[in-house]
Amino acid sequence: MPVLTAENVTAGYGRTPIINDISLSVDAGAVTTIIGPNGAGKSTFAKTVVGILRATNGRITLGDQDITRMPPHQMPRHGLVYVPQNDNVFKTLTVRENLDVGGYASKGDTAARMEYVLSIFKDLSKATEKRAGNLSGGQQNLLAIARALMVEPTVIVLDEPTAGLSPAYTDVVWNQIEGIAQTGTGVLVVEQNVERALKHATFVHIFVAGSNHVHGTAADIASLDLAAIFLGRAGADH
Ligand SMILES: Nc1ncnc2c1ncn2[C@@H]1O[C@H](COP(=O)(O)OP(=O)(O)OP(=O)(O)O)[C@@H](O)[C@H]1O
Ligand SMILES: [Mg+2]
Repeated sequence: MPVLTAENVTAGYGRTPIINDISLSVDAGAVTTIIGPNGAGKSTFAKTVVGILRATNGRITLGDQDITRMPPHQMPRHGLVYVPQNDNVFKTLTVRENLDVGGYASKGDTAARMEYVLSIFKDLSKATEKRAGNLSGGQQNLLAIARALMVEPTVIVLDEPTAGLSPAYTDVVWNQIEGIAQTGTGVLVVEQNVERALKHATFVHIFVAGSNHVHGTAADIASLDLAAIFLGRAGADH
């Protein structure tokens, strides 16, 4: 069942649209990935979904609520959280303090939620009093994800959560992402690495030049000529 739906979404930074007429939905308990070449508009779409950029056309729905014009700071309270690619933790705060900040919009018991989140993120549970800036890059990404989970989201949007990480740590992060989906949360991940996107996702969207004409199950997408599609030579009629 879709927990997040984008219908015909157009957005950009100035007057010129960067993404055009994007329609996509995220199911509860499943991982949906967005792949595509640099500059295709993947991050622009992620920012539009979470309200950082305003859609100039189209509609974004979370559950049965229209969130197209909702300001970004209200999104977590409604169950939609976002983990940006960079600057995703407060470096001078400790791990515990970062999680506390993440829980600000939580309706429930923050202490209990923190205990739960730390029980999943074992690496972090051993470093609660460490400053985030002193963690490894991979641990910082995990902390950013953990912090987003403090509000028990119905949908989490992650922009390249494994960029720059070693293959071993990429496995760790992806295991956590799959675990989040298994709890019933809808997961939308922008992933630069096509192999990873196909391995871990249920559903895949390919963005090329601001459009997402090609999408399907990971198995469907794996059978396509992705190089040609990335170069804009095929797939426009899928
Ligand atoms: N803040 C901004 N102001 C103006 N244009 C921008 C801004 N950020 C991105 N763009 C432009 O929007 C287009 C899409 O960028 P976006 O970051 O969404 O692509 P992407 O698919 O996430 O690429 P990457 O794989 O490199 O992360 C690019 O042409 C980029 O130059
Ligand atoms: Mg990007």
